[in-house]
Amino acid sequence: MLVFWLVILVGFVFGLILNHFLPLLFLKNKRLGALPRGSFGYLPLLGETLPFLYPHPSTTIGTFLQEHCSRYGKVFKSHLFFSPTIVSCDQELNYFILQNEDKLFECSYPKTIHGVLGKISMLVVVGDTHKRLRNVALSLVTTIKSKPDFLTHIEKTTIQILDSWKHKKQVIFCQEARKFTFNVIVKQVLGLTPEEPQTAQILEDFLTFMRGLISFPLYIPGTPYANAVKARIRISSSVKQIIKERRNNNIINNNNINNGNFCGKMNINFQEKRNDFLEILLGVDTLSDDEKVSFVLDALLGGYETTSILMAMVVHFVAKSPATLEQLKAEHEGIRSKKKKDVSLNWEDYKMMAFTLNVINESLRCGNIVKFVHRKALKDIKFKDYLIPSGWKVLPILSTVHLDPSVHSNPLEFHPWRWETQRQDQTGKKFTPFGGGSRCCPGSELARVEVAFFIHHLVQNFRWSVEDDDQPIAHPYVEFQRGLVLNLDHFAI
Ligand code: HEM
Repeated sequence: MLVFWLVILVGFVFGLILNHFLPLLFLKNKRLGALPRGSFGYLPLLGETLPFLYPHPSTTIGTFLQEHCSRYGKVFKSHLFFSPTIVSCDQELNYFILQNEDKLFECSYPKTIHGVLGKISMLVVVGDTHKRLRNVALSLVTTIKSKPDFLTHIEKTTIQILDSWKHKKQVIFCQEARKFTFNVIVKQVLGLTPEEPQTAQILEDFLTFMRGLISFPLYIPGTPYANAVKARIRISSSVKQIIKERRNNNIINNNNINNGNFCGKMNINFQEKRNDFLEILLGVDTLSDDEKVSFVLDALLGGYETTSILMAMVVHFVAKSPATLEQLKAEHEGIRSKKKKDVSLNWEDYKMMAFTLNVINESLRCGNIVKFVHRKALKDIKFKDYLIPSGWKVLPILSTVHLDPSVHSNPLEFHPWRWETQRQDQTGKKFTPFGGGSRCCPGSELARVEVAFFIHHLVQNFRWSVEDDDQPIAHPYVEFQRGLVLNLDHFAI
């Protein structure tokens, strides 16, 4: 028993030294300002990580942040993810951090994420490599948006999913939403349909890969982390294989064109112009093949889980707001009534979905899909009276600003009409569901258009209700407790 207490005591003293004194020992520029108040916690290395990560409804800021903000203020110091940390729940400081990427701060995700995503993922790389990859991402999104096929496919996928609900009284919405976003993204990125055998294999590997992102970084065969690293290798080789096949087809295709051979079955296949990310990526010579593969993974990762959770948020909040549903229905019936039957939605239709976009914004604000992003201070920084020491982790918490009553009136109320009076240029600081600055999400509009098109068909064909105990929980990745069970009522139009 004595030995047990001795070990606890030694651990406590060790934790105290490691968390409290070491970070303070290396502070150079104390004259720049004082460290924010706060606590480093007592667990060696972990500090306050466990209470910080403790699950809570994503529509609230959670007990940890609530208690720390009321005790220390909106900016405080802590010890999180094995590092001394400055936590910011302040809209001015968050904005300052996001706008000063690469100058004063740098993206810095935990090692688990590096191990699974790989060294050249956009979420991991910094500096010039990030700029180069990001430019490609932005031009890819612009190109894909200009292709009418892209919108037609989103709509087709929506109709397929909703058709499969016709005779159902209940669905687990998160599963349906994931099916939808995976089918959309895998087609947009790799040109694959759900029927192709490669798609099922990529989905299976991709799910293993995602589980590893949020696991303990222990590389022992059989652990979620080790499985994820292996799944990433398998997805990479599937994508490399697809790249190889595409290149071969393109060579044969070009040869056929050069030889004037335009007839026959082969040509019908090869003449088919592909409109996916990969086809555009193949023509980009500033990226290596490994970078192209990593890019595909980033797009799959970015476009899958977050977008499906956004769909679930919208469905969850609309179920509890009959006035929102009525106005959505009126907006979409208005758009449909101006179109010939069976004509697909286009960008002009999307631009007319003003109220839908307000509902999406409000769901992003209340639902907080991404609670915070990871940064590191590159030098000693003075912000207001605070010192942010060089090398410390810096966590801008996006959700606290969304739920701050001094920033948004009645922040806990789902009220899409609040966005009618917001000017675009005023929302940059107080609404950051997609991050900000030079790391702002390049897929934000793709996500919005997917959700808007889904809503278009959903509200015209179904009424639904949800269970009260099925809340979105921040782990901090967001998940509905029971997968968001929808009780359906279908009406044919
Ligand atoms: C509701 C849906 C989405 C949400 C809430 C979301 C959120 C975010 C956030 C907060 C960041 C910034 C991360 C940081 O600053 O460290 C980000 C970055 C990123 N997102 Fe999204 N995202 C969504 C959809 C998408 C989609 C559809 C794609 C791709 C098709 C995508 C691809 C990316 C990529 C590649 C980055 C890294 C950008 C960079 O580092 O420059 N995201 N996303």
